[in-house]
Amino acid sequence: MKIRKICCIGAGYVGGPTMAVIAQKCPEIKVTVVDFNQARIDAWNDENLDNLPVYEPGLDQVVAEARGRNLFFSTAVDKAIHEAEMIFISVNTPTKTYGEGKGQAADLKWIELCARQIAAASDTDKIVVEKSTLPVRTAEAVTDILDNAGNGVKFQILSNPEFLAEGTAIEDLHKADRVLIGGDLNTQGGREAIEALVGVYSHWIPRDRILTTNVWSSELSKLTANAYLAQRVSSINALSELCEVTEADIDEVSRAIGADSRIGGKFLKASVGFGGSCFQKDILNLVYISRSYGLTEVADYWEQVIKMNDHQKGRFAKKIIKSLYNTVSGKKIAFLGWAFKKDTNDTRESAAIYVADHLLCEKANVHVFDPKVKAPQIQSDINYLQSRNQEENESLLSIDTDPYGACRDSHAVAILTEWDEFKTYDWQKIYDSMLKPAQVFDGRNILDHDALRTIGFRVYAIGKA
Ligand code: UDX
Ligand code: ADP
Repeated sequence: MKIRKICCIGAGYVGGPTMAVIAQKCPEIKVTVVDFNQARIDAWNDENLDNLPVYEPGLDQVVAEARGRNLFFSTAVDKAIHEAEMIFISVNTPTKTYGEGKGQAADLKWIELCARQIAAASDTDKIVVEKSTLPVRTAEAVTDILDNAGNGVKFQILSNPEFLAEGTAIEDLHKADRVLIGGDLNTQGGREAIEALVGVYSHWIPRDRILTTNVWSSELSKLTANAYLAQRVSSINALSELCEVTEADIDEVSRAIGADSRIGGKFLKASVGFGGSCFQKDILNLVYISRSYGLTEVADYWEQVIKMNDHQKGRFAKKIIKSLYNTVSGKKIAFLGWAFKKDTNDTRESAAIYVADHLLCEKANVHVFDPKVKAPQIQSDINYLQSRNQEENESLLSIDTDPYGACRDSHAVAILTEWDEFKTYDWQKIYDSMLKPAQVFDGRNILDHDALRTIGFRVYAIGKA
């Protein structure tokens, strides 16, 4: 079966870039990305490519190439579902904030809504592809809804988890290590559906990198991949604390262990803590599923990865407070970076949010500069925690559009995101404008610490004595 029309529900960080690349690489397929958020769709359709709702290096060129040709963004959800032969579900699945499984299980209400909408708007057979990260066995629930709430048409459900990392999404999509497709290998219809999706990806991904599995393996592989990656960050962060009290240097330790080909050098960068929409959520899912099967030791094991991450964020904030003579009340502290990593405007679960919140509880005046994150997003991230009321947040937390302004008259500068431009700032100028002793807290170990010390800064870096 050759696919001619694709619909993707959800125009976010996953749906937007993924569909843009599919449209770019498959010019004969009409790809329509739909979302019920009108402002988001308007931004995707904005003539000025600087206004796209997702910032990703290279995304603007891909959108410029395909938009209007075979890539469309729309709020007409039902129409796009009705037309398409293949529908990707790419909606958000945040951790539940209420009821049973609160704080751990994934909130599947958007997925269920999508399934019901697909069932209602379909009068021909369709292939439904789960793109969002989902707990294992979600496909079962989606299948059940489609089979029972629909108009008698046949649906094939595939799991096709996304492995792109934000900040390198376009590169990751163009040169994926692997594409994973889970489906019903036991039936002719299932195998045909898998082949139809293989046909889409094989426009640009070598066939031997497209892995096919059963649905449950595919769903669990996604959770596991993220859990493994997050575990590496927590492991190196745990050692960073040990390095700080010994004469060891975490970057040297990373280099030494990463040179072992069995360990590998990637994902060994100690930091203020991992963030992003996936790591914490996926591990919590793993923990929740394990507990629900009574696997206490398995659940406890993975939960520790999150506890370590929370500890790392907390101890960074405490280090700042301690170094500023145990009080930050009324003191200006500059934050360089708010995004959860460089080259994205995504702030979900960013370490910066939790470090800022800790300092705001101590009545510090936090001034934030981030090259890509907009002021309303920063305020809304802090308000979302509900640690204090909105007015108090606004009086304590300021957003600057210029890094030098953020640092002027501050007691300390903290690096929360590893944006490249921070390395090339005029640090002498920053030093001259700060209160003394001027302190730098490098939560990403990206600055030249010796050079900063020569200027006169006191420097704290993760995992350095
Ligand atoms: C992750 C997975 O990498 C990706 O495959 C999956 O599809 C989605 O989740 P993402 O969250 O976008 O991608 O970014 P990633 O590069 O994995 O970084 C996650 C967090 O870990 C960031 O906050 C990053 O700064 C932090 N990190 C990463 C470290 O602190 N140290 C490292 O060595 C690597
Ligand atoms: P992700 O990182 O998984 O892409 P985002 O939050 O960036 O998550 O994007 C998910 C998008 O899905 C949001 O723009 C949201 O408005 C959209 N969405 C959620 N549920 C539906 C639905 N039932 N119909 C259409 N769009 C939806």
